[in-house]
Amino acid sequence: MRVLILGGDGYLGWPTAMNLTAKGHEVAVVDNYLRRRVCREENVEPLFEVPNLHERANLWQSVSGHEIRLFLGDLCEWDFVEEVFRKFTPEAIVHYAEQPAAPYSMLNRRAAKFTLDNNLDVTINTIFAVKEFCPDAHIVKLGTMGEYGTPNIDIEEGWIDVEHKGRKQRFLYPRQAGSLYHTTKIMDTDLLWFYVRMWGLRVTDLMQGPVYGLETDENEGREKLSPFFNYDEIFGTVINRFAVQAVAGYPLTVYGKGGQTRGYLNIKDTLQCVRLSIENPAKAGELRVFNQFVETFSVNDLAEKVQQVGNSLGLRVRIKPIENPRIEAEDHYYNPVHTGLLELGLKPHYLTQDVIAKMLETVLRYRSCIREDAIFRGVRWR
Ligand SMILES: NC(=O)c1ccc[n+]([C@@H]2O[C@H](COP(=O)([O-])OP(=O)(O)OC[C@H]3O[C@@H](n4cnc5c(N)ncnc54)[C@H](O)[C@@H]3O)[C@@H](O)[C@H]2O)c1
Repeated sequence: MRVLILGGDGYLGWPTAMNLTAKGHEVAVVDNYLRRRVCREENVEPLFEVPNLHERANLWQSVSGHEIRLFLGDLCEWDFVEEVFRKFTPEAIVHYAEQPAAPYSMLNRRAAKFTLDNNLDVTINTIFAVKEFCPDAHIVKLGTMGEYGTPNIDIEEGWIDVEHKGRKQRFLYPRQAGSLYHTTKIMDTDLLWFYVRMWGLRVTDLMQGPVYGLETDENEGREKLSPFFNYDEIFGTVINRFAVQAVAGYPLTVYGKGGQTRGYLNIKDTLQCVRLSIENPAKAGELRVFNQFVETFSVNDLAEKVQQVGNSLGLRVRIKPIENPRIEAEDHYYNPVHTGLLELGLKPHYLTQDVIAKMLETVLRYRSCIREDAIFRGVRWR
């Protein structure tokens, strides 16, 4: 299929691009280097430098023979979006192109407004581009499990049947996010659902949990093809952060009581989930929702796992609960359904001791690049 990846320079976008070409799809990526720019502005650069998109695409072509087409520009700009969709009329669009960091969105008014504008502008431009240039194309949109929050009932896969005063209706599952960033993802979902009803678009909303890891089949042994690996509090996801903290001898930063439970997945499983969604598209007029994670852990569980494996490698890993800079439940019920992607054929990779050890070994190679001052800044929600 012809697949357009919006945000194809990102942590997930670049590995997805290589993976889809390796599986025989024709791929073009779009990016404006927003992620690189914001990391530089906030002085929280990734653990190691990654080449720019031209260099990455050339390198991938030289080792695999597969071409990845590039479009560099801002998807908030309609003229640019129009040009991309005219030149590469996709059958599927993977929409990753957002400001994806909850702490960044809570930094200050400017960052909040930027997150809101950027994320919603890219989504509405994508919707209008599909309507105008490829109305039958399938939009695979990255949402987040954080849209649901932590309700005191089971989390269904996107939809819930409500019975009220003897009558029944199916609704989008109630959403109550814990950051402005997560709130923009709820707004994205509402926009998509509106235009699915109005224009019969085909959409899959992948409610993804935090992703960890950096190794995929395509970049194994080729570090220049690795994705970004952020370990700072703003852009790093928790397992990636703990891996670097363990190597740096920095006490693992458990926020508050550490009972915050979420659904996690290996980056290899993100690639599978996205590919399975593309190859099994939603129907016209359908908003299909999958909860995209493979296992749940509390923050305490994760810290203990990293500590155990780190110590077995000779690192002296300490855990230090700190005052929670966020506003979130630290001890709560959490039971989300996640069967849809398994039914499509997802073969999960779990967070085993070997997987953690491999991550720590990779980080150890870059030990001298770790900047302790980037690890924790204490971005407060209030
Ligand atoms: N990484 C995770 O753990 C995780 C978990 C749940 C959901 N998600 C979602 O998955 C998506 C990808 O996440 P990621 O971790 O790869 O983030 P990322 O920041 O690494 O990737 C997003 C990419 O989109 C690009 N981009 C943003 N706005 C753009 C614009 N206006 N025009 C062109 N390009 C633009 C950025 O430059 C970046 O390269 C995001 O939508 C995020 O919300 C990620």
